[in-house]
Amino acid sequence: MRQLPSIELSIEALRIDFMSNLITRTTELAMSVTLTYIRPGDTVVDATCGTGQDTVALARAVGDEGTVYAFDIQKTAISLTEARLQSHGITNVRLKAQSFVTMDKYVPENNAAAVVFNLGYLPGGDHSITTTADTTLKGLECALRIIRPGGIVTVVMYDGHEKGAEEKKAILEWAEKLDQSRYHVAYVSLLNQKNDPPEIVWITKK
Ligand SMILES: C[S@@+](CC[C@H](N)C(=O)[O-])C[C@H]1O[C@@H](n2cnc3c(N)ncnc32)[C@H](O)[C@@H]1O
Repeated sequence: MRQLPSIELSIEALRIDFMSNLITRTTELAMSVTLTYIRPGDTVVDATCGTGQDTVALARAVGDEGTVYAFDIQKTAISLTEARLQSHGITNVRLKAQSFVTMDKYVPENNAAAVVFNLGYLPGGDHSITTTADTTLKGLECALRIIRPGGIVTVVMYDGHEKGAEEKKAILEWAEKLDQSRYHVAYVSLLNQKNDPPEIVWITKK
C-alpha cells in the first residue's frame, strides 16, 4: 500500500469531496476529524469494528508501517471486517474477537494516536447485542490510558434505542467530569434533527 500525505488519505479513505456536507453525515464527520490526528506509522484502535468500514479508513491512514487493533465481541463482525480488509488488500490490521476492555493488553500506555468507538449494534445484525454503559465506560478508561499526549478518543453514540440512551447519558456524565488540566472534551449534537441522529464525543489528552 502506497503511503500518501494525510490529507489525501482522509479524502481517499472517506471518499469525500470538498463539496460534501459533513455536518449532515455524523459518522463521516467523526472519522474525518479523527484522521487529522493520525500519521503514517501510527498505532490506532478500532474498538468496535462491526462491518469494518471504520477499520479500513484507519488502516489506510496509518499505512503499511502502522498498525490497527480492531475489536468486536461478535464473530460475525470479525468475519465481515476480515472480508472487507481482504477485498481492499489491507494487511496491517490485528483483529481481536474480544471486548474492547482488553485493548490495553495490546497497546502500551501513551502510545495510540486514536481510539474509535462506534457504539450500538452491528448494522444488519442482532440488535440485542449492543455496547452497554458499564462496559463502554471501562473501555473509555482503557482508551484514555493508551492514547498518547495529543491523541484522540472518538465516540459515536446512538440514543435511538433504550441501551443507547442510557449509554449516552453515562458517557456524557463521565466525560464532563474529566480533569480539564489533562483532557479537552468536545460534544457534537445535531440539535434540530428529530430522528435520533448519532452524536459525537471527542476527547484529547494533553
Ligand atoms: C455500530 S457497530 C460498529 C460499526 C463499525 N465501526 C463499522 O464501521 O461498521 C457496534 C459494534 O460494537 C460491537 N460491540 C458491542 N460490545 C462490544 C464490546 N464490549 N467490545 C467490542 N465490540 C463490541 C457490536 O458487536 C457491533 O458490531
